[in-house]
Amino acid sequence: MTDSRSPAIWALIPAAGVGRRMGAGRPKQFLMLGAHTVLAHTLGIFLEHPAIQGVVLVLGPEVDPDAVELPMAGGRLFRVAGGAERADSVRNGLDFLAARCDAADWVLVHDAARPCLPREDLDHLIATLRHDPLGGLLAAPSTDTMKLADAAGRVEQTLDRARVWRALTPQMFRLQALRSALAAAAEAGMPITDEASAMEWHGQRPRLIEGSPMNIKITRPEDLETARLYLTMQNRLRNPI
Ligand code: C5P
Repeated sequence: MTDSRSPAIWALIPAAGVGRRMGAGRPKQFLMLGAHTVLAHTLGIFLEHPAIQGVVLVLGPEVDPDAVELPMAGGRLFRVAGGAERADSVRNGLDFLAARCDAADWVLVHDAARPCLPREDLDHLIATLRHDPLGGLLAAPSTDTMKLADAAGRVEQTLDRARVWRALTPQMFRLQALRSALAAAAEAGMPITDEASAMEWHGQRPRLIEGSPMNIKITRPEDLETARLYLTMQNRLRNPI
């Protein structure tokens, strides 16, 4: 690959969680939303985006890949086995990419359980960050007043609402920089629930890009109904995938 080419953009979808909080018979990414699974809706957003080179899907070891509904991908979808925690699953996906891609290529990590990501938010994230040295994440400014709790469940502090954001995904970073940050955080035993926090822990300041609050993470049973509504509003509930 030549130096003159602009970095490729990859999507990495961790889908190896068991979704205990959902209390359903199967992980939340395999529940139905209209005509398709949550996961198929999520994959469709990235597979149909012209700027995305390919999609790495991280599945749990117990999942039979042939039993998963996967969109037509024309050889752009790659399956990788997941790990114990979300960060382990992401690291497995990054290792797969590292053997095939340039260190400076972009990786967009997006939760399988967020099928309502609006296309405009994805476009905006890529357009804003593709010339950024570091990268960043979609996030939603807090509309509620936020409290920090102490161990006894009492308010320790009220946070300045104007500066508090909820981290969403995709989170977009350079392949090698993200790999190093996640490896260092794991080495130090840091609990990492999103990619940005690994980068922060590594001394970086990821950029916050305002995204739609429609980009919910399906976590509890009632979230499925909300997701159905948001996909209907985007005219995507019955999309052919
Ligand atoms: O559990 P949580 O809702 O934070 O999971 C966010 C995303 O990470 C989900 O798409 C889930 O499938 C994925 N995950 C994973 N490997 C794990 C745990 C979660 O890929 N071990």
